[in-house]
Amino acid sequence: MTKIAVYPGSFDPVTYGHVHIIQRAAKIFDKVIMAVTDDNYKNTIFSLEERLNLIKACCTQKNKNIEIDVFNGLLVDYMEKTGAVAIIRGLRAVSDFEYEMQMASINKHLNRRVETVFLMSDAEYSFISSTMIKNVARLGGDISHFVPEEVAIALKEKYKEKYINKVKSNRY
Ligand code: PNS
Repeated sequence: MTKIAVYPGSFDPVTYGHVHIIQRAAKIFDKVIMAVTDDNYKNTIFSLEERLNLIKACCTQKNKNIEIDVFNGLLVDYMEKTGAVAIIRGLRAVSDFEYEMQMASINKHLNRRVETVFLMSDAEYSFISSTMIKNVARLGGDISHFVPEEVAIALKEKYKEKYINKVKSNRY
């Protein structure tokens, strides 16, 4: 039986931390689906299409058993639909634990068949988060150590665009 895992998230944007987790998961499972939520509750700076394109550029080219998909609604329903047996989540630090434990417990409650598998982030990536990276990029800092080149370029463009729009709206 093909063992499928789902790596869900908003990936706004994808970082080296995510890339590393998905690559490790792809060695454990027959197939891993990187599932991007289209529920924009986090007010993402990248559109769904932009996030998918960045993931495509960074994650799926080398590994044949990594796929990308979009899901909406409950994650456990998506798990049923795809026949996946495990949710993959990366754990960076103790601070992640409470949120992750809540999510894993709720998902277990919603569907007892669904397991959550946690992979510890490598020390090198344990302090990286999309939020931090956006903050550094917004203020013009160097993020090349934390995200693939395509993402660094996209972030630069995004904040340039936002800056231009801000200037325009202040002027008129
Ligand atoms: O890494 P993120 O962006 O915090 O991922 C959160 C995500 C998308 C995994 C989570 O919000 C989710 O599973 N959303 C789908 C809705 C759902 O199933 N909610 C119940 C479990 S929290």
